[in-house]
Amino acid sequence: MNSPDAAQLGKRAEQMIRTLAPLSSEPDKLVRLFLSKEHRQAADQAAVWMREAGLDVTEDALGTVRGSMGKGPKLIIGSHLDSVVDGGHYDGPLGVIAAIIAADEIKKRGIDVAIDVIAFGDEEGSRFPSTLSSSAALAGHFEPHTLNLMDAKGLTFEQALEAYGKNPADIPKAAYRKSEAAAYVEVHIEQGPRLEAANEPLGVVTGIVGQSRWSTTVRGEAGHAGTVPMNMRHDALLGAAEMALAAEKLARAFKDMVATVGRIEARPGATNIIPGEVVFTVDLRCMDDAERRRAVAAFEKEAQAIAAARKLDVKFQPFHAIDATPCDRRLQDLLASAIADLGHKPLRLSSGAGHDAQAMAKLCPSAMMFVRCRGGISHNPAEFTSEADMGAAVAALIRFIERFAARTN
Ligand code: GLV
Ligand code: MN
Ligand code: MN
Repeated sequence: MNSPDAAQLGKRAEQMIRTLAPLSSEPDKLVRLFLSKEHRQAADQAAVWMREAGLDVTEDALGTVRGSMGKGPKLIIGSHLDSVVDGGHYDGPLGVIAAIIAADEIKKRGIDVAIDVIAFGDEEGSRFPSTLSSSAALAGHFEPHTLNLMDAKGLTFEQALEAYGKNPADIPKAAYRKSEAAAYVEVHIEQGPRLEAANEPLGVVTGIVGQSRWSTTVRGEAGHAGTVPMNMRHDALLGAAEMALAAEKLARAFKDMVATVGRIEARPGATNIIPGEVVFTVDLRCMDDAERRRAVAAFEKEAQAIAAARKLDVKFQPFHAIDATPCDRRLQDLLASAIADLGHKPLRLSSGAGHDAQAMAKLCPSAMMFVRCRGGISHNPAEFTSEADMGAAVAALIRFIERFAARTN
């Protein structure tokens, strides 16, 4: 039988995207959190597809599914199955699906290459503030303090793992030895507008942004909304609002920096009570790590000044930091050649989103291929990548693996 063309590969990817789409804890939106019932269902489905592709399937202590073929140092390809709250259907799953279809096709073509297809479960940090924990475990740098992190319901990471049927003591066994990992490559939607603007379906990622995430707790004094004069209040929410605007101003002042206050909670949270305590998160990103650190320090200084002026107390609790990660040059060039082989122009672009490739880069040479998404929209239910572009991505991944195998054999 002839090898499938890009259109057929895209059709298959689309069917698989549709199969995963309903696996959500809420009927009208996509919510697929790490170690949830829906994660279990998605992982089981990925395992079924991997077995159908002739891969040997295992699952590690963090619920990461691994489908293996061949012997020797592995070309590791994959992405994640978890979603943000009310997310889209392509962020993560496309990379898992592309890897499964590509491995299936490589096996059918009889190409001699050792591959592990991976479906991670904790890329988004949507349940615990533990972004990239499953890829960190594979790369051998899982941080044990992660086990104590708590979800919104007060369950610890460790308890959630046990409820998922896992033994935290097995986490070190998930790690590859450096000699077992030849390279890591991830297909992912771009989540930005540049491929669309260039009218190209595929891009090669040059590097992944560095991030700092922390929560800021502002304490004032709760009081009666009707009786305390404006000049006698210690309103924690107004202080927090000023601090959020300071984060925006700061990010605008630095080159290529973004800052987001995505979560805020006012306590006790009643219409007729002056907020006594506010907790909000800041997510600050930049390709330049020194600039990012400078901006975090500048924010703290500014927030302290705002707190002092309003007679509030402010504290900062960092919960995630990762340095900017350049993608491997040789893998980038191989991806670019594969894309060019298919008649497309491989745009080189950096990633403002975090990815499992960032954790995997600590283990082995890592790289990413981006796929155009409509309007650059992501972390939004309107996220969309066409069947044709998914087909181009899978075809380019197959071509990349062929080139990779030829290079190593
Ligand atoms: C992951 O999607 C991120 O927040 O960059
Ligand atoms: Mn993602
Ligand atoms: Mn995401």
